[in-house]
Amino acid sequence: MTLHPPEPFRIKMVEPIKLLDRNTREVAIRGANYNLFGLRSEEIFIDLFTDSGTSAMSQAQWAAMLEGDEAYAGARSYYRLAEVIQDIFGFPYFLPTHQGRAAENILSACLVKPGQYVPSNMHFDTTYANIRARGGLPTNLVIEEAHHTGSYHPFKGNMDIEKLRDFINRVGADKIPFGMITVTNNAGGGQPVSLENLRRVSQTYKEFGIPFFIDACRFAENAYFIKLREPGYADKTPLEISQEMFALADGITMSAKKDGMVNIGGFITMRDEALFEQARNELILREGFPTYGGLAGRDLDAMAIGLREVLQEEYLAYRLGQTAYLAARLRELGIPIIEPPGAHAVYVDAGLLLSHIPQEQFPAQALTVELYLEGGIRTVEIGSLTFGHLDPDTDKMVYPKLELVRLALPRRVYTQSHLDYVAEIFGKTAARCDQIPGYQLNYAPKLLRQFTAQLEPIKADNHLSKTLTELSILSV
Ligand code: F0G
Repeated sequence: MTLHPPEPFRIKMVEPIKLLDRNTREVAIRGANYNLFGLRSEEIFIDLFTDSGTSAMSQAQWAAMLEGDEAYAGARSYYRLAEVIQDIFGFPYFLPTHQGRAAENILSACLVKPGQYVPSNMHFDTTYANIRARGGLPTNLVIEEAHHTGSYHPFKGNMDIEKLRDFINRVGADKIPFGMITVTNNAGGGQPVSLENLRRVSQTYKEFGIPFFIDACRFAENAYFIKLREPGYADKTPLEISQEMFALADGITMSAKKDGMVNIGGFITMRDEALFEQARNELILREGFPTYGGLAGRDLDAMAIGLREVLQEEYLAYRLGQTAYLAARLRELGIPIIEPPGAHAVYVDAGLLLSHIPQEQFPAQALTVELYLEGGIRTVEIGSLTFGHLDPDTDKMVYPKLELVRLALPRRVYTQSHLDYVAEIFGKTAARCDQIPGYQLNYAPKLLRQFTAQLEPIKADNHLSKTLTELSILSV
C-alpha cells in the first residue's frame, strides 16, 4: 500500500470528536428519521458529509481575519480580495456573495427566462434548482464514460462536444442564455475536465454567441489533475493552468467553501459590463453592498489567503494523494467505487454493493444509514433520494443512472488513521451487506427533497403489517 504524501502542515489547534455507543447512535438516527441531514454534529465521529465549508483554516488565514475591515463600503478587505481574484481568474468584474448558490441565483435571475436551456457537463443540485426556479431547463451533456463507474478515463468530467453541438442546433442558440461547465464535476464523481475539452466547449459556445460560465468551486483540484494527466502541462504551475482555464470563459460562479478554503463565502465574476451592472443590483437587493456581498470584511480576507494557499503544489499533492489513499483502501476491500477517484471525495457504487435493494427503496441512502450505525461515520447519498422525481408527462418516478454514496474529505482536517478507521468500518459493513434493509419514504418536499426527507427501514414484519392492512382494507 503506497502512503500519500505527508500533510504539509502540523496541527496547532484540536477539536475533540467522540464515538457514541451503538445504542445512542441507533436512537439518534431514528430521531433523525433515517436522514443524516437530521443528525447533530456531536452525534458524529467522522464527518465525511461534505468538503464544503468544513475545511481547516491556516494560521495565515486566522491572522488575516484580525485585520478584516468592517467598513460598509470600500473596505480594505474587499480590495485585497479583488487583487487575488484578478490575478487568478482575470475577469474585469467581480462581486462577493455569501456562498456559491447566491452567485448562481444572481446569474439565473439576470439571464434565465422561462423555457430557456442551460447546458453543462452536469449541474450541481443548487445550480440545477436555481435555473429551474427561474423557469429554465438545466441540461447535462457529460461524456458517456462518466456513466461507467468502473472504467478508467483521465477526464471523466469532459463535456460531449458532439452532443453539445447537436443540442444547440436542435433547441436554437437564442434559447440558451448561457452555457456552463462544472470543474471538477461534483455530481458525476468529482471528475476533472481537461483543458483541451474546456477549449472546445469555449469555441463551441463562442461560435453560437452563447456566454460561457464555469462553476469553479474546485478549480485548483481540477488544475492539478490537468498538470498530472494532460500532455504538455507537467511543467506548468497550478496558477498558470488556472489562468489558462479562465481565459476561455466569460465568467465564473464560485463557492469559496471548497477551493477558497473558507467556512463561508463565494463570488461571481464576469467580463460583460452590462451584466455586471444588472448583477450588482441583484446583489444589493438580496446580499449586500458590492464591497462585502453578504460577508464580513474578515471573511473576504480569509478567502483572499485561502485562494492562494489552495494553489500550492505541496498542498495539492497531499490533497489528491489522501483521496487516492482512501480509494485504494476501499478497493482492497472489494468495495466498488467510481474510478479513478476524484480529488474531494470517493464515490461508492451503492447500487452495485447493495444490489438486493431496488432503486425505489433507496440503496445508497440505506448504506449511509448503515455506515453511521456501524461506526458513527456520516456520508451523503447521491442517488434516488436526491435525484428521483415524478415525470409530469408519464406520472411515473424517474430514477438516476447511479446510486452513489459520497465520502467527501474536508481540506486539512482528517489524518491517515481517520481514513484507516473509515476503511475498517466499510469492511465490517460490506461483510453483512445482504442484511441491510431498503427504506420507504414517509415525507418529502417537491424540490431538493433529500435535505428534509423522512424515511423508515422496510423490515420483514413491516412488509407483513403493511400487507395485512392492505388486505383488511380490501376485505372491507
Ligand atoms: N457548485 C458545485 C459544483 C458544488 O459542489 C456546490 C456545493 C455548489 C455549486 C453550491 O455552493 O454550497 O456554497 O452554495 N456543494 C456542496 C457539496 C454543498 O456538498 O458538494 P454553496
